[in-house]
Amino acid sequence: MLKTGKELLLDAQKNRYAVGAFNVNNMEIVQAIINAAEELNSPVVLQASQGGLGYAGVEYIASLGKLAGRNANVPVALHLDHGTDFKQIVQCIRHGFTSVMIDASKYPLEENIAYTKKVVEIAHAAGVTVEAELGKISGTEDDISVDERDATFTDPDEARYFVDETDVDYLAIAVGTAHGVYKGEPKLDYDRIKAIRQKVDAPLVLHGSSGVPAESLKKAIPLGICKINIDTDIRATFAQAVKEYLEDNPDQIDPRKILGPATEAMKRTIMDKMKIFGSNNRA
Ligand code: 13P
Repeated sequence: MLKTGKELLLDAQKNRYAVGAFNVNNMEIVQAIINAAEELNSPVVLQASQGGLGYAGVEYIASLGKLAGRNANVPVALHLDHGTDFKQIVQCIRHGFTSVMIDASKYPLEENIAYTKKVVEIAHAAGVTVEAELGKISGTEDDISVDERDATFTDPDEARYFVDETDVDYLAIAVGTAHGVYKGEPKLDYDRIKAIRQKVDAPLVLHGSSGVPAESLKKAIPLGICKINIDTDIRATFAQAVKEYLEDNPDQIDPRKILGPATEAMKRTIMDKMKIFGSNNRA
């Protein structure tokens, strides 16, 4: 079943679990995510970044995502991750994405609000729900990089003002996570999550969640985190599985034989995450 992101996240908010949002770039990743979700009876978000759309093409990703979502026996949202280009956001909506993110977090507050408002207006008119970002999450997610020195945590009062002004459906907040591989252990600002949740009714989104210890995520979810984004851990699993397979089978040339074990390994990584998020048996 294809659903909007909002439908998935409101159920998560009500029942105090988080939906995993996993980045997709090709068919094998889509299959790994959907198989994991079906095996655990879990709702799930398939999300494509601008880099993913550049690699595979919006039509391929939209077709794969819609097919997977419609055929799945669990709720699936097809989401644009970190959209910064208004035209591309409209293109995704036209191709059947059920959720889009406008990331105007690099701009000053009022400009972020103006960009977000514009996207909310057109997306809602098309029945698509919207994520925005307030504060700056450090690290690199495909073509977007934020230097550690420029990262800023989300201010709870600003968050309330932002959501009231924009009518955005869910909000990505900066509370100590970063995109990509961590150098040390990430420290989440739980008090800040709690304070934001006290001021904001919209479900909250945690980016940069690969490499964050399970215990930290489990602590953050009841405070208001309803969507947890994972990309790097899937990439690492994929690369490791392909390397191991080719080391053991250096003469293999059949892509199906090389990619099959990687798909299976990604599925296991994703299932582990879903269990941490508590989304299993929530479909
Ligand atoms: P990680 O690559 O750190 O898992 O972050 C993914 C993400 O937040 C996508 O928006």
